[in-house]
Amino acid sequence: MIQRKRISLIGAGNIGGTLAHMIALKGLGDIILFDINKGAAHGKALDILESSPIDRFSINIIGTNDYKDIQGSDAVIITAGMARKPGMSRDDLLKTNALVMQNVAENIKQYSSDAFVIVVTNPLDAMVSVVHKYSGLPTNKVVGMAGVLDSARFRYFLANALDVSVEDVHAFVLGGHGDTMVPLVHYTSIAGIPLTHMINTGLITQKTVDEIIKRTRNGGKEIVDLLQSGSAYYSPASSAVCMLESYLCNKRRILPCAAYLDGEYGVKGLFIGVPAIIGKNGIEKILEIKMNNDEQQMFNQSVDAVLKLTQKT
Ligand code: APR
Repeated sequence: MIQRKRISLIGAGNIGGTLAHMIALKGLGDIILFDINKGAAHGKALDILESSPIDRFSINIIGTNDYKDIQGSDAVIITAGMARKPGMSRDDLLKTNALVMQNVAENIKQYSSDAFVIVVTNPLDAMVSVVHKYSGLPTNKVVGMAGVLDSARFRYFLANALDVSVEDVHAFVLGGHGDTMVPLVHYTSIAGIPLTHMINTGLITQKTVDEIIKRTRNGGKEIVDLLQSGSAYYSPASSAVCMLESYLCNKRRILPCAAYLDGEYGVKGLFIGVPAIIGKNGIEKILEIKMNNDEQQMFNQSVDAVLKLTQKT
């Protein structure tokens, strides 16, 4: 009998609930939805299950506040902790969420030490380090979700400005998740045509691209200000599911994610956003790409910012 995959979601808030729904619709595996708030985990699990006859998925979902239930998970996605309120930066969440990550990681160590762990909780890059430290997992099994989301925002804004399908826009955003992220314009292409070529031929102006870069950096804040309670959750959930699918289905997609650098990009011992292949062993390979001087400088600033924050945890 083929066993269904076990996917544990730690945090049943806005992102956790959306993740559970998406994973159920895609039928990726059985779901264990954990939260310290028992009602949220149980309520959302049951609500989603009650949609299963309509959407025709035959997986199981349990809501729990007992870590024993995550035993033997193939993958864990962490969204537990506090989300931003208007006026707060991601970094304001540092101390509170670092303690939550320590607790979550210790339980992963005890109950699911073979899992592939995707961290979504902010401030992202620093939280991935905490999870790695306390989970005892190898570096290829712990990763942070940021780059997929940041590059999706960049791609969406570009597609809108060019009035073309989002499907044809490919882009990379590197570095930390936050103000120091590094959108790589000269690696961005539209149906294979470099964005730089489009700027040179007047299809889009440099000014518009600069505005899009600024909007991408502020993408999370824009949503926080609009929502007025909580932060983005549909697009973060989609991004984490994309990484999860690459792992569970051994797709070997190249995705920008907060991965552990052991000398790559001249950085040692830090989790930060870089392009990586995600396959059945987790992070299978970090791809090193050449940056121009401006990009390298921005990347270095991003590394410094992430390092400072990580040291404070
Ligand atoms: N253990 C487990 N769950 C916890 C813990 C904990 N120690 N502390 C808080 N939680 C739960 C809360 O009960 C809540 O249900 O985490 C959930 C967080 O949900 P939301 O507040 O809705 O936040 P969400 O929008 O899902 O974002 C979660 O992801 O993108 C980041 O910045 C965001 O850090 C935030 C995280």
